[in-house]
Amino acid sequence: MKRSSLLALVSLIALAGGACRQDMHDQPKAKPQSKSGFFVDGRTGRLPVEGTVARGELRADDHLYRGKVDGVFATTFPFKIDAALMERGRERYAIYCTPCHGATGLGNGMVIQRGFKVPATSHHIERLRNAPVGYWFDVITNGFGVMFGYASQIPVNDRWAIIAYVRALQLSRNATAEDVPAAEREALLSGRKALPGEGAHAAPPAGGGGHNAPAGDAKPQAESAPKSPETKH
Ligand code: HEC
Repeated sequence: MKRSSLLALVSLIALAGGACRQDMHDQPKAKPQSKSGFFVDGRTGRLPVEGTVARGELRADDHLYRGKVDGVFATTFPFKIDAALMERGRERYAIYCTPCHGATGLGNGMVIQRGFKVPATSHHIERLRNAPVGYWFDVITNGFGVMFGYASQIPVNDRWAIIAYVRALQLSRNATAEDVPAAEREALLSGRKALPGEGAHAAPPAGGGGHNAPAGDAKPQAESAPKSPETKH
């Protein structure tokens, strides 16, 4: 008799312990996407209160986030443009824009060559050269016509970097010697004058007249390579 009451006690404790364990398993919690009998709309997942802004995502700066100043497209960049940012823009442009607009911005990228129905507008037409940078920001952000927007793929600062690079691309097709800083203009112009002389020196080892031209062409390229990062890969 004593023995059996001890057994009963032990099994009672075990039972109580077991029940406790079940409690831990079935907590009164809401699982993602599960139904709720508590909220009127039957959803456990709650939407944030209207007007909620996540920390660091206020985006109140119209110039930076929308390319607008006083409601019109900005004609200035929202931050300082330096060489590092231009380089970033060149790299991002190559990734996101060249497939359609081409490396030089003429609109003859591979996607267009392979049959995209609408041509990608050249970046060098007068309207787009004169368009404010804010307009460019808007096109990249929201898309234009059949071109889709890149808001979800290109972060804000990179969009501006791309625009800075496009401005350089545009200038590269419309610049005069006067646009080159005085010191470099001198080198540029004297460099050009030196070409025929250089070619004459290259002539003897090159041999026939047919080889003369390529030898003459190769020389200035080799000379300008260290100055221009764009010719490197
Ligand atoms: C998938 C191909 C494609 C890519 C990638 C692309 N574009 Fe375009 N883009 C187009 C096409 C096509 C048009 C012409 C749209 C139309 O007229 O309906 C266009 C038009 C434009 C225009 C002209 C808007 C106007 O006012 O006429 C600008 C500016 C532009 N793109 C900039 C960019 C920049 C900058 C990038 C890179 C961030 C880019 N695009 C990437 C296809 C592309």
